Formats: sequence, C-alpha cells, structure tokens
Amino acid sequence: MSLRRVGFVAGFLLLVAGLSWALRDGPRPPLPVATPNPASVEPSPRSEEPSGPLEADWDALGGWILDLEQGHARQEIPAGARRASAFLTPLLARYQALLEGSSSGDLETEEESLAYEYLFGSPQRASLSLEALGRTLCLWRVERLWPGTRTRPPPRPLPSWGRCPVDGKPYQVADDLLRCGFHDQSFSPRHPIPANSPSELYPQLTMGYFREDRSRSLDAVLEPSVPSGVQPGEVVVDYGCGASCYTWSMAHRIGPEGRVLAVDIDPGVLDFISFVAARRGIPQVETVLASRESPNLERSSVDRVFLIDVYNVLAGIDLVGSGRPGPRVVATMQRLVNALRSGGRLVLIDFIPQPGLPHVSEEQAVRDMEDLGLTLVDGRPAPAHGMYVLTFEKP
Ligand SMILES: C[S@@+](CC[C@H](N)C(=O)[O-])C[C@H]1O[C@@H](n2cnc3c(N)ncnc32)[C@H](O)[C@@H]1O
Ligand SMILES: [Zn+2]
Repeated sequence: MSLRRVGFVAGFLLLVAGLSWALRDGPRPPLPVATPNPASVEPSPRSEEPSGPLEADWDALGGWILDLEQGHARQEIPAGARRASAFLTPLLARYQALLEGSSSGDLETEEESLAYEYLFGSPQRASLSLEALGRTLCLWRVERLWPGTRTRPPPRPLPSWGRCPVDGKPYQVADDLLRCGFHDQSFSPRHPIPANSPSELYPQLTMGYFREDRSRSLDAVLEPSVPSGVQPGEVVVDYGCGASCYTWSMAHRIGPEGRVLAVDIDPGVLDFISFVAARRGIPQVETVLASRESPNLERSSVDRVFLIDVYNVLAGIDLVGSGRPGPRVVATMQRLVNALRSGGRLVLIDFIPQPGLPHVSEEQAVRDMEDLGLTLVDGRPAPAHGMYVLTFEKP
C-alpha cells in the first residue's frame, strides 16, 4: 500500500470518526465536513510538530487565504495550514503552483477543470476560487467547533474559536446567531443551512472530484462479471449520487444505449451533474430530483439501483433515536424498490461500522432489504475504504 493510499484510508477513517462524534447528541450532519487528514500531509522534518490539526492551524490557513485575497502573495503554504487543510491539499497545491509560476494554471484532468469551471465560471480564476475557499473555511470552522449548529444556540461565552479563521475578527453574537462580518454569512439554528444545499456543494466537489482513488477503486464493483456489475444498455440509478464520482463510471459501463439516472435531493449537485454531462457529451446521464419521501422514479422502470454511502444517511435519520430505520425511510426505500423491475438488482455499498460508530451493519442492511422483499445474491467487501457491497435481487 502506498503512503498516499495509507494516508487516504486514514483520512477517511478520521472523516468517519468525525462524523460519528458530531452525531453524539444530534442528528447526522448532512455532509462530511472537512475533517483534516494529517496522515496525508507531506511528512514533516520537525518531529516535535503535533500530528493533528490545531485551532492555530485553521488560523494559519485562513491567514494564508487572506494574504492571497488581498494580493500579498506568500509563496509558502505554512506548515500548520497544510496540516489543517489536508482535505484541500490538491487545491492548495494548485494555487501554490500558480503563484510560483511553475504552473500555467492549466488543470490536470478534465474533471478538475470542469469542477473549477462550474464553481468559479472559469477554471483559472484563482482569486475567485480563494474567496469561495475562505468562505467555506469559515463555515466549516463553525460547523466543526460548534456541534449541533443547526439545532442549538452557540455556546456562551463564545470560546476562543468564535472568530472567522480568515480575517481573525470575532463573530458577532445576537441571541442564537453568529455572524461573520467579513464573509457576510450567519449561522443560527433559527436559520439552518438547508441540508446538502448548494452552499455545501464545494465540499461535495472536493470529495467527489479530487479523490480519484475512490472512483477508480469502485470500478471493480461495476464490472459486468461480478453480481453487482452493470451490463451495457441497462437503466441504472445512482441513488443519492452526490457530486457523482461514480455516475461517470456507470455511464461508461452501460454505454450509449443505456441510461444512468443520477438521483439526489440536492438540486445543487444535480445541476453540476447536468453541466458536466452536457460539457462532456454524455447524454445517457439524466438527473432526477428526489424528495425525502419519494425517489420520483417510475414503477418497474429500472434494472439496477446503486446506494453508495447513502443507506447510512437514510437509516441514520432514525438510528439516532430508535436504532432501527423509521417508517419514513422504509417508505422511501419501498418506493425505490418499486422502481426496480422484476429481476432487477439493488447494490448497497456502505461503511462497515467501527466500534462506537453508528453505521448500518451488513447484517442490519441485509435484514432491512429482505424486509422489503429483496433477496441477497452476493455480499463481499468493497475493494477499498472499509466498505461492504451487498447485491440484492427483486423477485
Ligand atoms: C454521503 S453522500 C454520498 C454521495 C455519493 N453517493 C458518494 O458516495 O460519493 C449522501 C448523498 O445522499 C443524498 N441524500 C440524502 N438523503 C437522500 C434521500 N432521501 N434521497 C436521495 N438522496 C439523498 C445527499 O444529498 C448526498 O448527496
Ligand atoms: Zn468568515
């Protein structure tokens, strides 16, 4: 296993651990927030450096962004900033190369280029990207350090973290509201940031697009020769597709005669997928906006449904309370199963629970799907990242 791969896996586990920590006394956050990944940062020559990110690291990153935004380009990304931002390392490396003049600003992959273009209008406008990065950092800081942001008032008095990591000034506090004057954004349980709203698209994109290892590793699961694998010409649903690192592999495998329906409740990610599909000329990818209650798919219209890192989201809504998925999830899942044709398959790929982490176990997932009338035809570990792959058939 390469160092990069080890770092990636460790980072992923940290991400999962971070999520479960955030879950201790509130509903699951809708998106993985940027949990730093110290192991994927370049090894530091100074052994006394702490291995994990510190509050100061976030400030270092914020300060670096502010300098760049204001035209005082520092050539070096400070070590602390690197540590805090391992999640964003590919982006930061890109900016640094731009600043050093060692890169023309051309992006290495078409995916990256399209993601930048979608987000910032042009793939090469680094200053605009930094503005968005700074704003996101401000949001992430509040979300990471104020657990329950969406449901509870901020802690009083505000601890030392209660300031924007980019401009360093304290957030303004009124009742249950925190406001960043610099970024002109507020955080309050009264005005919750809608789950998975386009404002959170940026982290989605960094998840989906800058972690190419992840999309490649799942390609094995899509091979026609394995039970979960897609066949050319199929109608396949990528349910809860997010920023869709897998949609494109599915589209590639089903070929021009098939259809991939990218389904999500977040119109932002669907908009992005439509943009990429149009720009790359992949007409077999269509988007479908689901609601929490209904997948909005026709009955018996689909050959295969993929749920990748999504069933835990659906089941998690109630796992916090009862330990079992509640009726709403079951009803949604039932409608999803109704969309499968007889003989169609549902492929559920999710995280193997770790001690103390409220993920849906393989056994639980099998029971739930069998309760919905599906038959397990194959179960195996996913090629990477501590996930399992369960393939079910509809009689
Ligand atoms: C953790 S992300 C996984 C995204 C993608 N499948 C991946 O593995 O990269 C979960 C996704 O499920 C979507 N989602 C959550 N609840 C949903 C629901 N009831 N119906 C459809 N999608 C949902 C979210 O908007 C989010 O994009
Ligand atoms: Zn701010």
